[in-house]
Amino acid sequence: MTLDSIMCGDCREVLKTLPDGCVDCCVTSPPYNIGLDYGTADDRKSDDDYLAFTRDYLEQCYRVLKDDGRVCLNIGYKVSTVKEAGIDYVELLNLIKSIGYTLRETIIWVKSKRPDDPQSFCGSNTAWGSWMSASNPICRSRMEFIFVLNKNSFKKHHRGISTMTRQEFMDCASTVWYFPAERSRLHKAPFPVDLPYRCIQFYTYQGDVVLDPFIGSGTTAVACVRTGRRYIGIEQNPDYIRMAEGRIQQEKQQLKNRQVC
Ligand SMILES: C[S@@+](CC[C@H](N)C(=O)[O-])C[C@H]1O[C@@H](n2cnc3c(N)ncnc32)[C@H](O)[C@@H]1O
Repeated sequence: MTLDSIMCGDCREVLKTLPDGCVDCCVTSPPYNIGLDYGTADDRKSDDDYLAFTRDYLEQCYRVLKDDGRVCLNIGYKVSTVKEAGIDYVELLNLIKSIGYTLRETIIWVKSKRPDDPQSFCGSNTAWGSWMSASNPICRSRMEFIFVLNKNSFKKHHRGISTMTRQEFMDCASTVWYFPAERSRLHKAPFPVDLPYRCIQFYTYQGDVVLDPFIGSGTTAVACVRTGRRYIGIEQNPDYIRMAEGRIQQEKQQLKNRQVC
């Protein structure tokens, strides 16, 4: 098993090559099944196919997790007015339970432009359906979920080194997180570094192994470099892997520069 690298392929197959119980934490955001063009992957499956796809990768993640391992699964809020888009949360949570996970937390990430101002909405300000009419009003989607799952043990089996500051602990120890969405044009749907950074600081020790089976532009790996964790990434699109490797090198260089200063 190669640590600190990104493997190219369908994560459902690549995950099978990893040994049992080798991962401390999985931090990921899968394709949401909303028809985005990721180049190689299909993001417009039938509900049944998408659920089967979700089962396949979540079962493999369960197998490769350590007994005291955790999963932070970031999934977009289902837009109920768009038919066949996203995932039915009731079905997702039943699936999670049937694999053997327990739900540890449900964190709501509010996409606010400024962390200190929750009302500074970051996103479309106009998609509200029928304006000022009960005909068919739609709630603008301002949030996403981060489902935090446990394999078996809620508590980590050993005591390692935590690297978060007091303020970071305080910010994470809440079921509502506020930070802006990522606006990069290089990847179709990146999450901001804040998301894996918080999950990693809050749920892992220094040196722990973090898996992202849908690593895209490498954001989880960047957060691992920043926090001194090891990463395993998987991505189907080789262009995204090249982009991720560039970002990781840049992050390592910045880290070196900070150490010299
Ligand atoms: C929501 S994006 C994740 C973006 C990532 N968090 C980032 O910050 O760049 C989902 C990613 O999963 C990749 N993908 C889709 N299906 C895949 C599969 N079966 N195996 C591996 N990667 C896949 C897509 O190419 C896309 O980059």
